[in-house]
Amino acid sequence: MRFLAITPIFISLLTGCALHNYGDDQFQLRMAAHGKDIMWVPTRVDTATQMLALAQVKSGDIVYDLGSGDGVIPIQAAKRYGIRAVGIEYNPDLVALSKRNAIRENVQNLVTFKQGDIFVEDFSSATVLTLFLGESLNLKLMPTILRMKPGTRVVSNTFRMDSWIPDQEVSIRSGESTIGALNETIYLWIVPANIDGAWEFTGLPNLDKTSVRFIQKKQFFDGTIAKLGSRPISFEDGKIRGEAIQFDFETNGKKYSFRGQISGTQISGILNGDPKLNVAGKRLK
Ligand SMILES: C[S@@+](CC[C@H](N)C(=O)[O-])C[C@H]1O[C@@H](n2cnc3c(N)ncnc32)[C@H](O)[C@@H]1O
Repeated sequence: MRFLAITPIFISLLTGCALHNYGDDQFQLRMAAHGKDIMWVPTRVDTATQMLALAQVKSGDIVYDLGSGDGVIPIQAAKRYGIRAVGIEYNPDLVALSKRNAIRENVQNLVTFKQGDIFVEDFSSATVLTLFLGESLNLKLMPTILRMKPGTRVVSNTFRMDSWIPDQEVSIRSGESTIGALNETIYLWIVPANIDGAWEFTGLPNLDKTSVRFIQKKQFFDGTIAKLGSRPISFEDGKIRGEAIQFDFETNGKKYSFRGQISGTQISGILNGDPKLNVAGKRLK
């Protein structure tokens, strides 16, 4: 385990956890100081359920918890939503504990615990990803997460992901510890579709066929609509939420709002909520 993984936040969370009895008669929290890249500090059951609620878990979802510890998050996902859930955990003792915990909660048919390294194992089939790993590990995972299917919900306990602004965050008062009140924040990100680059649009007002350039920064974007013979029109408030896209712009003194859907290399939607004002875009090679 790298020393830098033991952050003051983890020490304070661990102090809180010490008040509870984590583990079973075969393996307890105090035996598991060492993970691979970070130590085991459990998410409280209440926090796990709030993380799943923040991700709006629904039937058909597949939840993956990366570095799954004693299995609390996959087990709660299976128990509360009846869905499939997978935990990837490096420490074999924790994998064994998770499997015993799943049997105790009677969800062994829905959950899978895999012994493995989160930087090696494939988790691309997840529709919901949960993390309690520390900011530097979140950051290391970020490029892989951004390549996941658009709309995948990612929820992290306590730690953010640097430049990727969360789509939502919730603060939870998680109780008292020997060093005072404990507050946790959980963060939600929704993997945005990739639209960065050049597109051709039809249906924009007074511009039959025009080229559009999107300059994407995670779930936000700037960009321009080319206009022959005059200055390009700039987008305002460009946002992507999974495969949903929106932006505003102004031309000839009139304001327009576009709301639509991205489907791979195609975008379709309408202007100003008017179904007659259809707009379509296709990605240029
Ligand atoms: C802070 S604990 C979180 C446990 C669980 N997700 C939870 O929320 O209760 C981090 C876990 O990641 C595991 N871990 C650390 N590095 C890992 C790696 N490279 N691959 C898989 N698991 C890892 C540790 O053993 C530990 O159980």
